[in-house]
Amino acid sequence: MKVVLASQNKKKIVEMRAILSQMGVEVLSQADAGVNLEPEETGTTFEENSRIKAKAVMEATGLPAIADDSGLMVDALGGEPGVYSARYGGEGLDDTGRWQLLLKNMEGKADRTCKFVSVICCCFPDGTEVMARGECPGILAQGPSGDGGFGYDPIFYLPQLGKTMAQLTPEEKNKISHRAKALAGFQIEWEKQHNGTDQ
Ligand code: IMP
Repeated sequence: MKVVLASQNKKKIVEMRAILSQMGVEVLSQADAGVNLEPEETGTTFEENSRIKAKAVMEATGLPAIADDSGLMVDALGGEPGVYSARYGGEGLDDTGRWQLLLKNMEGKADRTCKFVSVICCCFPDGTEVMARGECPGILAQGPSGDGGFGYDPIFYLPQLGKTMAQLTPEEKNKISHRAKALAGFQIEWEKQHNGTDQ
């Protein structure tokens, strides 16, 4: 089955393509499908935003479309930056500026527990959808380590591995990440709804 990946984030596309191709899904980028959409993420949950993105691309292409909405939730900040992770601190900041701001906002806070969350949604032209959520718990480091991954990876410490997410190889990250867990759940849901058949 051909599925269009709604994301425009190149690093997310690489991660999702690696995992989805193992499911026998032929993954097309938006460019492959001849569209270039960046729907406004007006939802207040990961579930709402992933559906908004997948539905817009499905409607524009007539093909099933998959979107991921993800972010970092920090307990001491009431779950922030959450669905606003990509926009934390406003438009002027890049990934480094965002995690620097987060570390500053965490100064003096003893509880540094946090989690990455990913919700994957696939919208089909017949109006059905498959959705799954994955979470990866961690601890906010005091400073950055590693240069792999993207986003908040340099400050996301995994105590069980003694490394930040940015110190993992792509293969290691794809085994434990929130996105990998969401995709694993997604595969189970997909097979339940589609009986494992190619459509
Ligand atoms: P969105 O899903 O495109 O709205 O953006 C999610 C944002 O959450 C990204 O821009 C990153 O800042 C952050 N994020 C999501 N997944 C990861 C990850 O695997 N590593 C680091 N940051 C992530």
